[in-house]
Amino acid sequence: MSGRKALVMGAGGLGAACAKGLAQAGASVTVADVDAARLKELQADPHLGGAGIGVIRADLAGAAACEAAVTSAAAELGGLDVLVHAVGVNDRRPVVDTPDEVWDRIVTLNLSTAFWAGRAAGRLMREAGRGSMVFFSSVSSQLAHPHHGPYAASKGGLDQLVKVMAREWAADRVTVNAVAPGYTETELTRDYLARPGMREEMTRLVPAGRLGTPEDVVGAVLFLLSRRACFITGQVLYVDGGRTLV
Ligand SMILES: NC(=O)c1ccc[n+]([C@@H]2O[C@H](COP(=O)([O-])OP(=O)(O)OC[C@H]3O[C@@H](n4cnc5c(N)ncnc54)[C@H](O)[C@@H]3O)[C@@H](O)[C@H]2O)c1
Repeated sequence: MSGRKALVMGAGGLGAACAKGLAQAGASVTVADVDAARLKELQADPHLGGAGIGVIRADLAGAAACEAAVTSAAAELGGLDVLVHAVGVNDRRPVVDTPDEVWDRIVTLNLSTAFWAGRAAGRLMREAGRGSMVFFSSVSSQLAHPHHGPYAASKGGLDQLVKVMAREWAADRVTVNAVAPGYTETELTRDYLARPGMREEMTRLVPAGRLGTPEDVVGAVLFLLSRRACFITGQVLYVDGGRTLV
């Protein structure tokens, strides 16, 4: 990753782990998120190895904001070789109890931000004739978890968006892939896993016998972004301890 210029969208559990992994591997990294406290915490993280990262505080729930984040990251870094999209939300309810605002929020943050950021980064990378992107899908794109209507739909849509962007930009040497984690311990799953019996139930479904950690995805993300993966595009790599085998 030495010399590569990377924008990570999302400073949550998975985004922060990827930002640290990229910085430790020698990339120059800028991270965008709405949460100023998370960005500050990430900047102060000793695991960055003194490399330091740039931050952009922005509510990314709109096309203009996503495009501005991509443009200012590219200006700050002096180009853009890598995009990691790790923004996402969930709200678990039965479909019949899901109001429009919940549907809109989940689809906007999980899927539309990927489209807006991917499109903006794709324009820059195609022009440069190189680049790699990784988006966060989920086992929910494949499995029909109850109470995950909008979330599952957003991740299924993301998988298809990744494939089409990959196909359109392959000739420009721009790769587009996704990683799909199983249940991983972050802010996104904390409350759900804290419900009585939930952690045990979720863990029982994983052949590897444990839930994921943010660090579990970093190797897969760095590989897909690396030159060693330059002929891999349009793929969804499950990082789930075997969850999708059950
Ligand atoms: N944690 C899991 O179990 C898991 C499993 C599969 C897929 N994923 C996916 O991985 C991605 C990252 O998830 P995570 O576990 O790190 O979640 P997280 O909640 O820890 O992080 C999500 C980040 O998105 C940011 N965000 C939310 N709304 C925003 C907005 N309007 N503008 C800018 N930033 C905003 C939050 O501030 C947060 O930092 C998501 O797409 C999620 O769906 C997570």
